Amino acid sequence: MRIVLFTGKGGVGKTTVACATALGIASRGSKALLMSTDPAHSLGDAFGIEIGPEPQEVATNLWAEQIDPQQRLEESWREIQQHLISVLQWAGIADIEAEELSVIPGLDELFSLADVKRHHDDDPYDALIVDCAPTGETLRLLSLPDIIQWYMERVFPVERKIMGALRPVAKRMTSLPVPDDNVYAAVRRFYDKLEGVRQVLTDPATTSVRLVLNPERMVIAEALRTFTYLNLFGYRVDAVVANRLLPEEVSDPYFRRWKAVQAEHLDTIDRSFAPVPVLKARLRDRELTSARLLLELGQEIYEDLDPAAVLFSDDPLTIAKQGDVYVMNLKLPFTSREALELSVKNDELFLKVGPYRRTIMLPRSLAGRQVDRAQLDGDLLRITFMRGAQP
Ligand SMILES: Nc1ncnc2c1ncn2[C@@H]1O[C@H](COP(=O)(O)OP(=O)(O)OP(=O)(O)O)[C@@H](O)[C@H]1O
Ligand SMILES: [Mg+2]
Repeated sequence: MRIVLFTGKGGVGKTTVACATALGIASRGSKALLMSTDPAHSLGDAFGIEIGPEPQEVATNLWAEQIDPQQRLEESWREIQQHLISVLQWAGIADIEAEELSVIPGLDELFSLADVKRHHDDDPYDALIVDCAPTGETLRLLSLPDIIQWYMERVFPVERKIMGALRPVAKRMTSLPVPDDNVYAAVRRFYDKLEGVRQVLTDPATTSVRLVLNPERMVIAEALRTFTYLNLFGYRVDAVVANRLLPEEVSDPYFRRWKAVQAEHLDTIDRSFAPVPVLKARLRDRELTSARLLLELGQEIYEDLDPAAVLFSDDPLTIAKQGDVYVMNLKLPFTSREALELSVKNDELFLKVGPYRRTIMLPRSLAGRQVDRAQLDGDLLRITFMRGAQP
């Protein structure tokens, strides 16, 4: 089964493009399931019907489901949560706060993604199209395995094995609530679930991420940051969808300036994400709230391409730790051996190779580090970052 995730800044058109893609796939004869992990349910709005937590047919070959993240959370997290609450209460935290603190932000969406894994394993569909929450949340979600590990190490301070031996003693010596086997089993299940989701989502033959953006400065900056992080965590972006481009035929002088600005931004988008393909969708003259309009949008975006295909498969950016230095490998198209210019300011790396300019948003682990050297090897640029933070 193919899985395509759509993400991007709030309001850029993720839901719309996800629907258009799903309809495009279904219209080519494949069975597609469209699901939303966004708690702000909007798939229903796009199709003009109420969509529930079980897949329901919304068009020929197309099913849609809107899961209730809260419900999924309760199912999987309940036992662990109960224990967390008792620990937090033991530490003197008021009931209501303990209740709040026992839910890690972003967990609900994670459990929605667990459904991705379930559908993948059951496999009744050819394609699964996922409309994700805005980028902030998605990014937090992608780093959740680390966050959870941090959390668990503090909440379960003693190794399970030791705890097994100590539990009778510990119970006598302290009133700290000791997790029982059920809690450990729940944590185990939780880790397994998480690992399963990650495996599916980082398998390049199965899953692609498509970044939706608009030709606007802030939106592009956020998309670039997301792009870096997605690459960092091993998720493959196979296309960027630039949405809401002013159509050629708009000639009203009022929009002249907008068109010039958009053209400039579009150029930046093309150059910044290359070699990842940038697909384009014009701003329509109305909201896209019917299957027909969405299908048309899909045709415009993909033209002759199969929307279910892997549209690009490569690692355009990788970051590896070698000893105590970090090496960023960057695939650059149109590379020339002319003078390479490179500078870093805060968390942005500016790059110029011949006529080619690019800004790369650095992940937190690299921000503030100085560049030791940069080598060009064919179309691969290797940038070595020095150890330690800059004073
Ligand atoms: N190319 C377009 N032309 C005209 N209207 C559009 C286009 N793309 C999206 N829209 C409209 O913009 C609105 C917002 O789009 P959409 O809900 O897809 O954004 P979103 O990124 O999913 O938002 P959120 O972050 O809130 O989930 C919708 O009413 C949609 O119909
Ligand atoms: Mg949406």
